[in-house]
Amino acid sequence: MRILSGIQPTGRFHWGNYFGAIQQYIALQNGKETAFYFIANLHALTTVRNKAVLAQNTLDAATDLLALGLDPEKATLFVQSDVPEVSQLCWILMTTTSMGLLERCHAYKDKKAKGLTSDAGLFVYPVLMAADILLYDSDSVPVGADQVQHIEVARDIAGSFNHSFGEVFVMPKGYIVEDTAKVPGLDGGKMSKSYGNAVEVFEDLKVQKKKIMGIVTDSRPMEEPKDPKGDHLFELYSLFASKEQIAALDATYRKGGFGYGGIKKELVALAENYFAEARAKREELAAKPALVREVLAAGAATARKKGTEVLRRVQEACGLK
Ligand code: ADP
Ligand code: TRP
Repeated sequence: MRILSGIQPTGRFHWGNYFGAIQQYIALQNGKETAFYFIANLHALTTVRNKAVLAQNTLDAATDLLALGLDPEKATLFVQSDVPEVSQLCWILMTTTSMGLLERCHAYKDKKAKGLTSDAGLFVYPVLMAADILLYDSDSVPVGADQVQHIEVARDIAGSFNHSFGEVFVMPKGYIVEDTAKVPGLDGGKMSKSYGNAVEVFEDLKVQKKKIMGIVTDSRPMEEPKDPKGDHLFELYSLFASKEQIAALDATYRKGGFGYGGIKKELVALAENYFAEARAKREELAAKPALVREVLAAGAATARKKGTEVLRRVQEACGLK
């Protein structure tokens, strides 16, 4: 069994990325399956058009994942473009992918609906994602809910290729990682780097504190009892707090007579403490980028070995070899 997932290096990871996806991906490295994780820099090219930014984001994403506990002894971590076979497979897959299938995909459809022009890269984004999955005979692809459609497309693409050329590809299964309940942002909406409401995992602590203290709260009088359900400060607090702490805050809300400021201060301390070890590890790794690059090079070698084998199988099946 192989587990595979990719993460785009489009900016620094925020709490939503961590609690919604990364934490679960990293936990999977401890299972019996082999796990492949990659930084999807070819996908990021559809939005990032600055070489220094893309290169830095890629290194940062790898450093962050290692600091957050991804263990290269247990899982293979690599950069998508370090396995050029994926681009070769992408072309081959495009030749059996219907336009209609891609026209239904949300990233392209949403952009078109807004009257924006899109590049061919955005249109074939799901085919490259299918290539990412199929190149390594992946069985299982944990993703956030927003990526489920793309996994279905990968299955369709594998199915039509197999239909034309025989049983070449392993049929992957996607599944939504648990806990993708939306992590709320500072304003109560879904936390997202596009909404300016995100708290980055490794943000400067002073900046982080300022953001947390600025969490939007309602203006009901202090004495009034409040329902903690759906309250975004309560939800954010719950990400970091122990069961007992959550139960105590729940009771405080229901009783009333408290100020939000004290809770925000507690959240500042809890979040700092929660990521303290990862933050220290990150500082260590940031001082040794060569070490991170070594991990990525070793990961690419492992991934390439498998990718070359599968590409060869594909080429033989369709008459290219
Ligand atoms: P953003 O919305 O900031 O652009 P991405 O789309 O890059 O985030 O998210 C990458 C992954 O992180 C998603 O597939 C999703 O699983 C997870 N994720 C992002 N934001 C949240 C959130 N607010 N709550 C839970 N999971 C999230
Ligand atoms: N498109 C995914 C995202 O934006 C990243 C990704 C690229 C991916 N290729 C993949 C995820 C293959 C899983 C499998 O989150």
